[in-house]
Amino acid sequence: ASTLGAQAAQSGRYFGTAVAAGRLGDGAYTAILDREFNSVTPENEMKWDTTEPSRGQFNFGPADQIVNRATARGQRVRGHTLVWHSQLPGWVSSIRDADTLRSVMNNHITSVMNRYKGRIHSWDVVNEAFADGGSGQHRPSVFQNLLGDGFIEQAFRAARSADPAPKLCYNDYNIENWSDAKTQGVYRMVRDFKARGVPIDCVGFQSHFGTGGPPASFQTTLSNFAALGVDVQITELDIAQASPTAYANTVRACMNVARCKGITVWGIRDSDSWRSGENPLLFDRGGNKKPAYNATLSALGGT
Ligand code: G3I
Repeated sequence: ASTLGAQAAQSGRYFGTAVAAGRLGDGAYTAILDREFNSVTPENEMKWDTTEPSRGQFNFGPADQIVNRATARGQRVRGHTLVWHSQLPGWVSSIRDADTLRSVMNNHITSVMNRYKGRIHSWDVVNEAFADGGSGQHRPSVFQNLLGDGFIEQAFRAARSADPAPKLCYNDYNIENWSDAKTQGVYRMVRDFKARGVPIDCVGFQSHFGTGGPPASFQTTLSNFAALGVDVQITELDIAQASPTAYANTVRACMNVARCKGITVWGIRDSDSWRSGENPLLFDRGGNKKPAYNATLSALGGT
């Protein structure tokens, strides 16, 4: 096949991109979006500060724009994200008692998931809950501080109750290198969840890489997680300077793991990227395919 989405589909995978509602009026952007991608992730529009800016007041306008547009074109949608310490409105971060926060968190998960019931293939239920560095523990956040280590499990249980259909994912960055303490911390959590029947279906590896691309152990990491009985997905891929080899190595790691179900790049053109100064994506500012595009397409073909 001659596009990323169609080529990925030949092995039963999806190839997606982050989409910003504010760019949907740009015809050059939407032309690439609709030609190349069969999954989309709202880049910011499903985050808590947008969807519930004050308690019980939901704002689904920006996310609706993306979801409605994608659904009408047969593109699948990843939901990003329900519980995250960042882009969290002040009214949540200033809650001081556990019972209030527990009910607020459950209500948020339930309300957002209900809105998009039947239209999301995978939800990032909890995002970036683990600390950087050598601890292998959760990072501090209002959720961690008030609800303790159990907040992640509570979020996944609330999500499964809200909608049993979508894949429920834990999503994080810097968990691609197998020997890192952060990777090991997430691995222990997933192993424990599977052992105790806590509903988790997948792990999202954000994959925001430097110029060298993925660590040598990336495929090992993906297959070790998959062996726990979860799917794995590459959820926010971008690579500083977009070396074709680095992209090909990333795609091959996924292709070589049966439970790696799809890849999402974190934007379309370099100018659309949150790290645009590093030119990390597959299309240049003019919307032209970069060498990394061709490397990605052929790696999806298994070559
Ligand atoms: O919407 C406001 C706009 O009104 C204002 O004028 C403008 C001025 O700064 O800011 C706009 O908000 C920005 C928003 O993106 C929308 O463009 C925020 O400042 C900016 O912080 C925000 O950045 C996003 C970032 O998450 C926030 O943490 C990036 O677009 C988004 O790509 C990035 O995505 C995250 C994933 O969700 C999780 N993993 C890491 C990844 C990269 O940081």
